[in-house]
Amino acid sequence: MMNESIDSLMNEKRRFAPTEEFARNALVDESHYAEAADDRLEFWAKRARELHWHEDFTEVLDWQPPHAKWFQDGKINVAYNCLDRHVEAGNGDRVAFYWEGEPGDKRTITYADMTAEVKRLANVLLSMGVKKGDRVAIYLPMIPEAVASMLACARIGATHTTVFGGFSPQNLRMRIDDADAKVVITCDGFNRKGKVFALKPTVDTALEKPGHNVENVLVVRRGENEIDWNDDLDVWYHDAMADAEPEHVAEGMEAEHPLFILYTSGTTGNPKGILHTSGGYLTQAAYTHKAVFDIHPETDVFWCTADIGWVTGHSYVVYGPMANGTTQVMNEGTFDTPTPHRPWQMIERYGVTVFYTAPTAIRSFMKIGREYPQGSDLSSIRVLGTVGEPINPEAWMWYREVIGAGTAPIVDTWWQTETGAIMISPLPGITELTPGSAERALPGIDIEILNEKGEPVPEGQGGLLTISSPWPAMLRTIWGDDKRYQETYWDKFGDKYFAGDGARIDPEGDIWLLGRVDDVMNVSGHRLSTAEIESSLVGHESTAEAAVVGAADEATGQAVVAFVILKERFAESFSVEEGEALLRKHVASDIGAIARPRQVFIVPDLPKTRSGKIMRRLLRDLAEGREIGDTTTLADASVVKAIQEQMR
Ligand code: WTA
Repeated sequence: MMNESIDSLMNEKRRFAPTEEFARNALVDESHYAEAADDRLEFWAKRARELHWHEDFTEVLDWQPPHAKWFQDGKINVAYNCLDRHVEAGNGDRVAFYWEGEPGDKRTITYADMTAEVKRLANVLLSMGVKKGDRVAIYLPMIPEAVASMLACARIGATHTTVFGGFSPQNLRMRIDDADAKVVITCDGFNRKGKVFALKPTVDTALEKPGHNVENVLVVRRGENEIDWNDDLDVWYHDAMADAEPEHVAEGMEAEHPLFILYTSGTTGNPKGILHTSGGYLTQAAYTHKAVFDIHPETDVFWCTADIGWVTGHSYVVYGPMANGTTQVMNEGTFDTPTPHRPWQMIERYGVTVFYTAPTAIRSFMKIGREYPQGSDLSSIRVLGTVGEPINPEAWMWYREVIGAGTAPIVDTWWQTETGAIMISPLPGITELTPGSAERALPGIDIEILNEKGEPVPEGQGGLLTISSPWPAMLRTIWGDDKRYQETYWDKFGDKYFAGDGARIDPEGDIWLLGRVDDVMNVSGHRLSTAEIESSLVGHESTAEAAVVGAADEATGQAVVAFVILKERFAESFSVEEGEALLRKHVASDIGAIARPRQVFIVPDLPKTRSGKIMRRLLRDLAEGREIGDTTTLADASVVKAIQEQMR
């Protein structure tokens, strides 16, 4: 499937230029590429100075590979840039968010409203003893308080770590411990698929065992479900806010002050705490948001559908758009509740002009049928974006035809939690689009495609994607583990960043992303590690050994497929079907529902080389129902047959 899709991508010849009118009104033209090529650091310094600095910087970049400091002697307050600055410029009445709850309740929040909320919340956190440099865990669904919480942390220099609401208590606790969080912000529950999902009990379970340093749990009331209350820790958000001082003056922080830690799956062990800092991160988040989506803040209505538990929600719901004073749409719950009309009705209701989502969502819209989007007036849309995984040309064409009226440019944006902001993307007023290609590096970004030895690969040939110069929004380290930072990203190519993705450049200079080259899977645009799921599986009492692969899946891009050997004494205690269901459930409750394997196969043995290494390539062939490749290096070739029999 991978090879087939690469072939069909290589044959993609369609080209779509922006309309003349779009090109004429676009914010960014070719001059940005020239400017950045001429003086890359000056280009970024200029972008940085579009923000407000409490104290200007004199040095743009200090690069001691692999450690970069951007604008380091400048002082900046990220929240001030996202809030007060717009109010002081007379734009306090501009809507920051049109928000809709899943049951249909609506809130309209202006920049003045959000500024007032964040000032109070900053005072609440200060009164709980949160100081500059302390960490706060945010475990919230898509409600405006989630945005306020992130900005309140930024305002006082507390480093936030958001945790996706679908993660299990163990996963939440791992992050609370690793970041050593002092406060957790959560809610009683929230709406999803027509039901109230309790969230607070997960926090209770996570904090049950001693050994953490959480002093307060701040609880937003949203689901109105009954919850247990711990007087020692728990504080209602609305009570604390009512008591808080309304005024708070934002101070400038060092440009390299830690803004947030976001955990993401790696190839081995525990998730990595990716650390982002303030000045450089905000510079690139704001610039890319404006340039890639052609944002005119006075008129555009932007809707990025990502959850704030992921990096896309950080850079393109909170920091980029709000630094630019953009009006946004935000929703709680899913797109098909109460009906699949929901996203399209919201686009019509608020006049959304720029819509940014993941290929998985687009494929699910395709499957449900075009009659839903066609039931609403989508004529306000002028730019469409995608992120998180390669988009197949069929989905690309559907997106453009059905959602974009056959004219809206599609920006296919490549980036990662680690890069902090978009790195490779078309610019909608300039680029001739090719379905399936993310096109070219943005101005000020240097990309190279290398072979294993670090040499550039010839045009058209696949290689490893690297970033050859430091960029403002780059991760600064892995929280608490600088050695792992060096090993993961830098040891391979010295001072070039190794992204973990395969890519090729075609004769036109367009970049094609070819998926991960390591043991990281991409399921519905979410990163999962094979090692993490394997370790969850062997954590179950019945499992002797497990191997996990990412298999191509039409709906989710990749899907988790597990092969498990049971311990002898369990082999008889349940049927194969029961065992498989049990283990799927175990992974879902251990890590989170997103990690639940599509399939678990209980097998008598795993294919191994003579040195005992599991041959995942063979397992992937089996999971994808393909002819299996070369088995000559197997220690015991009959294993494959036995597995095939089991899979029938
Ligand atoms: C993949 C999400 C192809 C890639 C912002 C990367 C993509 C990983 C694209 C990062 C794209 C992201 N085309 N692949 N446009 N965007 N990816 O950290 O494999 O959740 O390494 O960041 O998603 O996932 P992450």
